[in-house]
Amino acid sequence: MQTIRKIAVAGTLAALSAGTAAKSDGTVEVLHWWTSGGEAKAVGTLKEAFEAQGGVWNDSPIAGGGGDAAMTALRARVVAGNPPTAVQLKGPGIQEWAQQGALNEVQGVADAEDWDAVLPPALAEIMKYDGNYVAAPVNIHRVDWFWANPEVLAKVGVTEMPTTWDDFNAVADKLMAAGITPLAHGGQPWQDATIFEDVVLGVGGADFFRKALVDLDMDALTSATMVASFDQLRKLRGYVDPNFPGRDWNLATAMVMRGEAGFQIMGDWAKGEFLAAGKVPGKDFLCAPTPGSGFVLNSDSFTFFKVSGDDNLKGQQVLASLIMSPDFQKTFNLAKGSIPARTDVPLDDFDICAQKSHADLVAAVASGSLVPSMAHEMAISRSVRGEFLDLVTEFFNSDMSSEDAVQKLADAVARAM
Ligand code: BGC
Repeated sequence: MQTIRKIAVAGTLAALSAGTAAKSDGTVEVLHWWTSGGEAKAVGTLKEAFEAQGGVWNDSPIAGGGGDAAMTALRARVVAGNPPTAVQLKGPGIQEWAQQGALNEVQGVADAEDWDAVLPPALAEIMKYDGNYVAAPVNIHRVDWFWANPEVLAKVGVTEMPTTWDDFNAVADKLMAAGITPLAHGGQPWQDATIFEDVVLGVGGADFFRKALVDLDMDALTSATMVASFDQLRKLRGYVDPNFPGRDWNLATAMVMRGEAGFQIMGDWAKGEFLAAGKVPGKDFLCAPTPGSGFVLNSDSFTFFKVSGDDNLKGQQVLASLIMSPDFQKTFNLAKGSIPARTDVPLDDFDICAQKSHADLVAAVASGSLVPSMAHEMAISRSVRGEFLDLVTEFFNSDMSSEDAVQKLADAVARAM
């Protein structure tokens, strides 16, 4: 399989670079924010595969969960006229960079390998600008998950994962009464926004989520449902330990692993941490969707910036082809905690959380309850997302009322739109 693919890729590349004598299998500088244990393991599979094909990989990791620091670094690099060859970038951000003329396309590879036939159409659209692929997706992450330690839950007689926010609050109250931190959380704006959007899905449902966090509908943003969402976020604030400010998300995951907290609310990159530590899903840790029948979508992709030189251009083509290969999509996603972006990769070797993610994704597409993540840059522009993050974090760290939060949020979004 690997050999056949290599031959196919070699053929594609020969066709693409006809007339140019290539020296190696290309060079890439890859800017990404995958620096936690599970993330580093996952991106390591891409580096190894690229090097195994004879390419040169220059790693540019920028620490900082959620990627805000990486995006700041990227802007500085582009402004300085020295962009990296490939950048972990997603959602509307891809379009924003493409509109500025900052990207190279990889349509030749996409045509030769018929990416359109193997990607969910909604995801393919995000990867294209003016009808041409400028990015290649590596995965589908789900944002709306509870991760729990079953031994900790057993201490308060709980064997089932909560299915409503009221259920969750009841379990959390029991844990509090037993002197156990219910919720492991890191107080960083993107993490606050992650739990906020999961709460909005549970309180308001997928249609409400879309109206408020994607369409930025003012009636939805100022509704009683939004007030109720902030009320639940206030409840969650009461369930975190005093040391939460500034904590990295993977350290919060480690608290659940070590039995220092009952739950974490986080996307399934948290599963990558459990797996990297040798933990087994269903035994050492539990996964279950947070309340609300829907699926909050986050997908990582690599975007190809405008670089020149045969070696760099070839590196982009080889990397694009590698990212989309079925073998890579399987290996990478087994480590990352996500599921493949390609629809034709068998999931037999994936664990129960991944199987659940896939089944729920298919169901959400069928019922129209798939929603793009606001917190993870799949839904709205960076500037409007910034307003959400600022307000949610201010609310989380103050005694602001839910009514005031809703009004301030609506005002800030209206100004930024
Ligand atoms: C990315 C994940 C990453 C997580 C934490 C998310 O926005 O999509 O790939 O693991 O941030 O860094």
